Amino acid sequence: MERDLKEFSRDELTKFNGKDGQPIYIAYDGKVYDVSGSKMWKSGVHMLRHTSGLDLTEDIEAAPHDTEVFARYPQVGILKPEKDPMDEHVPDFLLAVLEKIPMLRRHPHPMTVHFPIAFTILFPILNLLFLATGNERFESSAFHVLIADLVATPVGMLTGPYNWWLNYASKWTKTIAIKVFGSLILISLLLVVFVWKISSPEIMLQPSEARIVYLMLSLTLPVVVTVLGWFGAKMTFPH
Ligand code: HEM
Ligand code: HEM
Repeated sequence: MERDLKEFSRDELTKFNGKDGQPIYIAYDGKVYDVSGSKMWKSGVHMLRHTSGLDLTEDIEAAPHDTEVFARYPQVGILKPEKDPMDEHVPDFLLAVLEKIPMLRRHPHPMTVHFPIAFTILFPILNLLFLATGNERFESSAFHVLIADLVATPVGMLTGPYNWWLNYASKWTKTIAIKVFGSLILISLLLVVFVWKISSPEIMLQPSEARIVYLMLSLTLPVVVTVLGWFGAKMTFPH
């Protein structure tokens, strides 16, 4: 039944104070009652001190009577729960979705970043394994992992700002600066290595100075991704 009742925000409720011909509503414990018919609430004020149009839940302690008085008047609605101040920036439709699927609040970023972390670390390891064994399958696996990384990293770069906006109200900090610039460095390096590999597919196969530079770049990737993960985890687990 409660679902069919009108929802009042605290703001809307203030209108119903008996002035200008408005009905007299009071809220108690999340419920809105119409006490327009009560002599005790005539003029919108009760016992010279309790003003209608407000949530009077806490005021009841001062009353000589208990809450049975509410049974005499119809409930006309429910009071919208107050927004958590941490969620002030979050639109109501999203809060409703988060209420239904709570894992969408904290999980999107942590869940998605472990893919780019794994791929970024695996890529140079596979290249080194090729150098150590001469088995070209390691080298071609490295290329496939690089492609997977190029798909996975942008996902982490989207969920990161989402989690930052949602849970940290987009508050700019040094850690966030490191993460944003670090991510841009990571994706740029990945693109450079990828384009290089596409334009010289044999780059790893023969010894050359270019190959050393290519390998150095590959080895820089895990460093960048570790910095990103380190500073990310510092936000999630500050202690
Ligand atoms: C100093 C605080 C208060 C005093 C002295 C006071 C006093 C009274 C008295 C003497 C009555 C009539 C007795 C009765 O019908 O049982 C009454 C009724 C009532 N009071 Fe209060 N009250 C106070 C606070 C509140 C508050 C905070 C609320 C709302 C949350 C409230 C809601 C009501 C309601 C709905 C009635 C029923 C009115 C009716 O039957 O017409 N009162 N109050
Ligand atoms: C691909 C690049 C990124 C990687 C690898 C990465 C990695 C991580 C990791 C490992 C965590 C710890 C999560 C956990 O285990 O709970 C984290 C948290 C976090 N990262 Fe990132 N991150 C990246 C990009 C970004 C970007 C671009 C931003 C946004 C501006 C960002 C914002 C955050 C925030 C706000 C947290 C804290 C999440 C929370 O406490 O709920 N990240 N990141």
